[in-house]
Amino acid sequence: MRKRIRRHQVRLGMFVEELEGGASEAALRRGFLLSTAMEVDRVRNSKVISVLINVQKGCDIAASSRDAPTFAQSAFTITAAENKAVTQTIDQTKHLLAGVFTDARLGGTVALDRAQDAVEKIASAVEHNPIALIGISRLKKKDEYTFLHSIAVSGLMVHFGRWLKLDERTVQILGLSGLLHDIGKLLLPKGLLNKAERLDEQEIAQIRTHTRRGYDLLRANGNVPETVLDVCLHHHEHVDGGGYPDRLRGEQLSMPVRIASICDVYDAMTTLRPYKRAWSPAETIQMMYGSKGHFDRALLSEFVASLEPFLKQKSQHP
Ligand SMILES: [Fe+2]
Repeated sequence: MRKRIRRHQVRLGMFVEELEGGASEAALRRGFLLSTAMEVDRVRNSKVISVLINVQKGCDIAASSRDAPTFAQSAFTITAAENKAVTQTIDQTKHLLAGVFTDARLGGTVALDRAQDAVEKIASAVEHNPIALIGISRLKKKDEYTFLHSIAVSGLMVHFGRWLKLDERTVQILGLSGLLHDIGKLLLPKGLLNKAERLDEQEIAQIRTHTRRGYDLLRANGNVPETVLDVCLHHHEHVDGGGYPDRLRGEQLSMPVRIASICDVYDAMTTLRPYKRAWSPAETIQMMYGSKGHFDRALLSEFVASLEPFLKQKSQHP
């Protein structure tokens, strides 16, 4: 479906069918996804009168876009001190999480208090220095992947929850859900997770057991919030019913699960792994829009809008 919007309404993730008016803008392409902040700026600063977008191929105008920060408002600079603070936060969080994960792997228990301490540190870092989100992605190393992926998904879920104006208690539970969503992977053979060669069907099936294993582990702990259990078990479900383990569809997927699904895939794709290169944020967004039936489209649009300031930052400081 096509929609006509004004040029100042364009934003990252929209698919532009046509730029209307302003003959001098012939150099601007037609039929393209706005995948970088520079492209968005180029359209916004052009002389076109209106823009035809295709909301089946890209973002729609979300309700909250009226409140979305403009690039000028949201641009920020990173000082050396801020970078140092982010690195320290990640180190502290990694230390806390290492204890939680070791207990889970060896003793089958989950130290929820330490996990919550970690979420508080992550939530504070996201509030005071949002660049932490992409900083974590850059820092990932092979043997630390599950730690850092968990921290990054937690940070993204906190950030996205706040963007959606959810209350802070809910935001903290989202953060905890992100931190523990892949805990079942600790119970799988290490070599399987880092394998560089293509996985066979049996190995894929084995990896897919991590959702149920994690759920059982957390459930046995007794005091884990329902939302955290739900996200752990269902973060690989798709809105069209094509995911696992329960092939849930549509409204059967809770909002935290839909949020987790987006944040999980975004972080996994923008990370270098033994078997694949890291995709850029723009490539990742394009792929996620192209992955029909996987994500909640309205939430995906909101997620992309919430990342605009980071992508702007990246384009300003390559
Ligand atoms: Fe997972």
